[in-house]
Amino acid sequence: MISNHAKTALNQQVANYGVLFVKLHNYHWYIKGPEFLTLHVKLEELYTWVSEQYDVVAERLLMNNGNPSATMKEYLEQTTLEEAKSGLSADQMVESVISDFQQVRKEMLEAIEHLEAQDVTVEDDLLAQAKEIEKQIWMLRATLKK
Ligand SMILES: [Fe+2]
Repeated sequence: MISNHAKTALNQQVANYGVLFVKLHNYHWYIKGPEFLTLHVKLEELYTWVSEQYDVVAERLLMNNGNPSATMKEYLEQTTLEEAKSGLSADQMVESVISDFQQVRKEMLEAIEHLEAQDVTVEDDLLAQAKEIEKQIWMLRATLKK
């Protein structure tokens, strides 16, 4: 079983993914500009991935006698991210996703430290997510370069 400290760290990511799922939809719907077609599709890919990983982390918690948060109210109280702002340009939306992914990745790596090898299967899931997020950050950054 994993420690309470590790459970809190995992639940933090459940809340972050819950908020990010809605935020990525917001940008997917409201993005404007010449990059619309590319970014609209990319944002759909990202919210689909986030939704899968959100479920992976929550179910890992349940397998370890944890209680993943499961209401929007809890997510807004527990997230370290901010909800989407309106009126952002396409570049600002991409910058916002990069910044959120950096935050999630940092906390993911901290959660692995909290786990202290108590459960390598959970660590493996978190590491896979951190690796994928790193790749997505790289691709999103490349879209900002003119
Ligand atoms: Fe859509």
